[in-house]
Amino acid sequence: MTQHAASSATDNPWIAHPATICSIRPETPGVATYELAFNDPDRQSRYRFLPGQFNMLYLPGFGESAISISSDPEEPSRLLHTVRVAGNVTGALARTHPGETIGVRGPFGSAWPVAEIRNSDVVIACGGIGLAPLRPVIYHLLRRRHEYGRMTLLYGARSPQDLLFADEWNHWRSEGLEMEVTVDRGDADWKGQIGVLPALFSRLDLAPERTTVLTCGPEIMMRFVISEALLRNISARRIYLSMERNMNCAMGFCGRCQLGPAFVCKDGPVFTCEQMQPYLHLEEF
Ligand SMILES: Cc1cc2nc3c(=O)[nH]c(=O)nc-3n(C[C@H](O)[C@H](O)[C@H](O)COP(=O)(O)OP(=O)(O)OC[C@H]3O[C@@H](n4cnc5c(N)ncnc54)[C@H](O)[C@@H]3O)c2cc1C
Ligand code: FES
Repeated sequence: MTQHAASSATDNPWIAHPATICSIRPETPGVATYELAFNDPDRQSRYRFLPGQFNMLYLPGFGESAISISSDPEEPSRLLHTVRVAGNVTGALARTHPGETIGVRGPFGSAWPVAEIRNSDVVIACGGIGLAPLRPVIYHLLRRRHEYGRMTLLYGARSPQDLLFADEWNHWRSEGLEMEVTVDRGDADWKGQIGVLPALFSRLDLAPERTTVLTCGPEIMMRFVISEALLRNISARRIYLSMERNMNCAMGFCGRCQLGPAFVCKDGPVFTCEQMQPYLHLEEF
């Protein structure tokens, strides 16, 4: 089962709290990381989140979007969101500047099961912006390296320019994270692998009975990741995925994000493959 953060009894989850954009760091074309700080010092000091949870970011005049928290849960005062311009709200966010104020509701949703998977080998398989919701897991696991078995990151992007957080990779590797990286299209400088992410499974020597897979990225990619993992006899209970659906309330009231019997906002976004398998073929409605 996946974890949820307990929210404070005094919090009204409908209210978007004003937060100042402290800095904007361009990451890759169309993607930037926004550091936010709540204007209310009390809220800023109390705010906590779990790896995998998301906030609803509110841009006045444009609306709200669900965006995962990409920072370290153990440094809650440094609240980061890594955002790709997709449409209305993310486009408006990309036009903001440090010092401006936006609204933040959250955190919402279930978390990656970092406690349950202690002692297991962990394969993190993600594509493109899908690394953002998994970066908090990497921080968590590397901080407790001795509590986990082998840790491998399989990461893919369209091109070398689209690979996120590359300046952190050497540190992650030195802390014990094995990495396999692939791109769809290389360039003259690219010496790494070319091809789709799920193909990287063939490079791994897995012990299925003690391996957990965490995956996030385009749904088609996650389906192939799941197929590769199941093919290698990893149990559907040990494969976790983060689902993406359009959201309004983020609290299980409006039904906008319903997927089968589940509300992605409240029951997810992190689910086991066992929970999601019957619904993975469904298009968003
Ligand atoms: C739990 C969760 C976590 C998420 N985490 C992140 C994250 O960490 N980072 C991130 O970047 N995203 C994340 N997303 C995705 C993000 O919420 C969506 O991309 C969101 O739709 C962006 O809002 P928007 O208003 O900018 O885009 P929207 O306006 O809602 O557009 C979304 C899509 O619709 C298309 N579209 C928009 N307008 C039109 C039109 N007129 N005609 C045709 N197509 C159109 C766009 O091309 C785009 O593909 C997450 C989503 C969920 C559910
Ligand atoms: S967004 Fe309203 S039920 Fe999930």
